[in-house]
Amino acid sequence: MSLDKELRKQAYEAVERETIKVQEDTFFPGFHLAPPTGLLNDPNGWIQWKGIYHLFFQWMPFKTGHGAKFWGHFSSENLTDWTLEPIALTPGDWYDKNGCYSGSAIIDDNKMKLFYTGNVKDEHGQRESYQCLAESADGITFTKKGVQVELPEVYTPHFRDPKVWKHGGRWYMVIGAQTKDEKGAVALLESTDLTEWTNRGTISHANHSPLTNFGYMWECPDVFQLDGKEILLFSPQGLEADGIQFNNTYQSGYVIGELDYEAASFDHGTFKEIDHGFEFYAPQTTEDEKGRRILFGWMGVPDQQEFEQPTIQNGWVHQMTLPRELRLVDGCLHQLPLPEMKDLRTEKTYDGPVKDRYAGFIARTVEVQLKGRVKRLELFGNMTLTYEPDKRLLTLERPNYANGKPEARSSILSADLYSLQLYIDHSSLEIFANDGESVFTSRMFAKPENHSLYVEVDGSVEMSIWTLKNKT
Ligand code: FRU
Repeated sequence: MSLDKELRKQAYEAVERETIKVQEDTFFPGFHLAPPTGLLNDPNGWIQWKGIYHLFFQWMPFKTGHGAKFWGHFSSENLTDWTLEPIALTPGDWYDKNGCYSGSAIIDDNKMKLFYTGNVKDEHGQRESYQCLAESADGITFTKKGVQVELPEVYTPHFRDPKVWKHGGRWYMVIGAQTKDEKGAVALLESTDLTEWTNRGTISHANHSPLTNFGYMWECPDVFQLDGKEILLFSPQGLEADGIQFNNTYQSGYVIGELDYEAASFDHGTFKEIDHGFEFYAPQTTEDEKGRRILFGWMGVPDQQEFEQPTIQNGWVHQMTLPRELRLVDGCLHQLPLPEMKDLRTEKTYDGPVKDRYAGFIARTVEVQLKGRVKRLELFGNMTLTYEPDKRLLTLERPNYANGKPEARSSILSADLYSLQLYIDHSSLEIFANDGESVFTSRMFAKPENHSLYVEVDGSVEMSIWTLKNKT
């Protein structure tokens, strides 16, 4: 049996052994994507093809730790009901033996093509990196086509996470990179036929970019257009915390500008964090058949107390965010829950004004909408959101799940707080403020028996609460 086949068999056995324990965990999500067992990280190969949405994911089926990653695969027709498909990629070849690392999907020649990084480490821990291809005629079974791009000389082997797209009849690929002087960067490659790739250079450092000295590695780059502007989304590592910015171990954010494909240079503005919560990393976008730019993120951060999460004892760790539509508003990316998320609602349990304050009980899979100026919101005696109108400052606080010490993340709104939309799912919380201008994504390990919601408002605020689909 080939090593790929053997690994695949072992992964299915692990799922069969573990999946009941995993899904019965009180913290296992009711409507978010999470691993059938083991560890899930980055969203990969995110695409819609022939009406079906495909979301692949970095997956370690054998333990709640990182290692030689597989590509797991979920599919959906409606973005709310998902099916776990057969494993798409297994790390069984010489060029990906230490992991089929992150990458993207395109459709070409009536096939789905996955570009991913083959991660290789030798016996001394020395890393090699290969950009590889796998193809499928049905979007389910993939055939590996081997190495397509070797490491260009100007980068260290921290060279990974290809995102491929088409522009003006040519194919382009961005890759997260580290220059030889250990600076984070993005490489642009070009191809006319998806076979021969030319390295066009480091777009992120062109034209005196303010980001020439911005961390030691950039992971998971993504380039796309919104309203005639190019957006470069990436996850830099090595930034120092700076006031309310950059407080997680690693960040995810974007710059907006214009990509000059001829000159291979990108003129852009300042870096903005895309999310303000405790757990968010490595997002990837696609344009769906309705023309919407939709983002999925990983609700985790590498090296950030990942392995102190209480789900580990039940054999799983991490989950995805909900899919979100991106819009460009006044030079900022807004993230909005998709209209499809309304289909998650099973029952409306509150609809009316809140005067001064509200205290009640809610389910553990819930959507809460508040229209007006909320001053304070407490959830499950664990997460607290406060708003300071004089500074337009929104702050999310929680006890750190490992040591119990209070910790906070904040964001400044461009206008007074007028709306909040919360998605609560057992052990996660996504907060969309002012129609997605500011988003906080966090895991939440509150006592399972706690169902309390407390809200304090200025004057009167309209509130709606829906119970959402739970583990169907
Ligand atoms: C980001 C990342 C990627 C890499 C993958 C490995 O979280 O480190 O750069 O491809 O995860 O799982």
